[in-house]
Amino acid sequence: MVQTLGCQMNVHDSRRIREVLRDEGYESTDEAELADLIVVNTCSVREKAEHKLMSLLGRLRPLKEARRDVVLAVAGCVAQQEGARLLKKVPYLDLVLGPDNIPDLPALLADVDAGRRRSLTVFDLDSPRFLSAAPDPERPEVACFVTVMKGCDERCTYCIVPTTRGAERYRPADEIVAEVSSLARGGVREVTLLGQTVNSWYEPGVARPGLRAPSESAFADLLRRIAREVPELSRLRYTSPHPRHITPALVAAHAELELLPAHVHLPSQSGSDAVLKRMSRRYTQAEYLERAESLKSARPGFTLSTDLIVGFPGETEEDFLHTLDLVRNAGFVAAFCFKYSPRPGTPALSLGDDVPEGVKQERLARLFEVVAEQQRAHLRSLVDTEVEVLVTARGDDGRWQGRSQRHEKVHLELAPDVTPMGELLRARVAEAFDHSLLAVGRGGRLEPKRRRLPLAQEPST
Ligand code: SAH
Ligand code: SF4
Ligand code: F3S
Repeated sequence: MVQTLGCQMNVHDSRRIREVLRDEGYESTDEAELADLIVVNTCSVREKAEHKLMSLLGRLRPLKEARRDVVLAVAGCVAQQEGARLLKKVPYLDLVLGPDNIPDLPALLADVDAGRRRSLTVFDLDSPRFLSAAPDPERPEVACFVTVMKGCDERCTYCIVPTTRGAERYRPADEIVAEVSSLARGGVREVTLLGQTVNSWYEPGVARPGLRAPSESAFADLLRRIAREVPELSRLRYTSPHPRHITPALVAAHAELELLPAHVHLPSQSGSDAVLKRMSRRYTQAEYLERAESLKSARPGFTLSTDLIVGFPGETEEDFLHTLDLVRNAGFVAAFCFKYSPRPGTPALSLGDDVPEGVKQERLARLFEVVAEQQRAHLRSLVDTEVEVLVTARGDDGRWQGRSQRHEKVHLELAPDVTPMGELLRARVAEAFDHSLLAVGRGGRLEPKRRRLPLAQEPST
């Protein structure tokens, strides 16, 4: 059993852990009581995420004590941050495994068995390994993640990720394209390229122009190459881009490539220039907005969502009002909003944590309110328009679900005999909810010129 507590990168790692174990003859189970091995894949981006781990381990303790042969492992970012210390803190833990050590898992399990070694948290800096997905034919997927870079050199002052994921390492384009291509041939229709600053990607070994300046076109070239070489794909997304690396070439790619959605999630963190400076984000609100506007002008109806932090050290009411201004000025249609959480070893620790919890809470609520209103207004504005929905799931209510070209969540009302999994459908929006849309199928399946091979796993109805 593999339990995931973190971000998309964590989700991606959990899949790779399952695949490594599958190759070792393990079968997957969702029930802790039946498992011989329990891997908890952790996150440490905020204190709350670490608490989740501790309470989960507490719940697993009686099971471990009742069945000593069960192997209990902690993987992911807390594992990397704490290393062998975690074994002391949690005496009933068997194994601690860093995010770069997933391929070493079988050897480590043998070591645990033999009582030789119980932790490995070493970054693969010299020869980075990027694990490709080995999809399970029993459980075909429509949407998949593909890693293009690991680690982060940005060092935003609040963030623990550079510690838990290490220095930046880039994956060669040939490897990326080969993985996307093999996934698409296996039936995957949407690929999300993953990296902490995904749009800073460049071909490893090829010098970037300027010391830390991004290549003008490397990431955009990668997107173009995937679009050209993987005709079976219906959608190509990426997360998370850094505003510093939104180049004119990337904007041009959005205008040009039908494959890219008309939406980008572009973390902003704050609207106050003073706070952005203390966060070391290396842009002002005006510069962020300039990049945001250039993206929005790439295609009609282009939308943006973002990540925001409230209560960063020294954040005044005036700073916070600048954040509300940014939300309005950028017209975000969604946002993940967080209260600042001091993290061990980060530079922001020296600034203290001087915004009282009550004030953080109150700012978070006000921020939610503004974002929620913008989201509702945006979704309402789509009623009676046409959306292109990539169908990715079927809900418990029997309704098909998917995402529009702008990544809005869409519930679909279709004729009962239609089985559209993995299809790109045209539908009319009939109703807007707080966070999603209801659309009615017109039977108009989208058949753009560059698409598509029939889905291997699709029933022949
Ligand atoms: N690499 C991505 C985000 C990684 S972490 C990027 O830069 O966009 C995801 C989000 O968690 C961040 O965007 C930020 O909003 C939030 N976050 C990171 N550290 C935090 C902290 N110490 N306290 C509160 N939120 C934090
Ligand atoms: Fe953290 Fe900043 Fe890197 Fe994102 S860009 S992972 S917020 S240090
Ligand atoms: Fe992701 Fe959390 Fe690690 S956000 S990179 S799992 S610290």
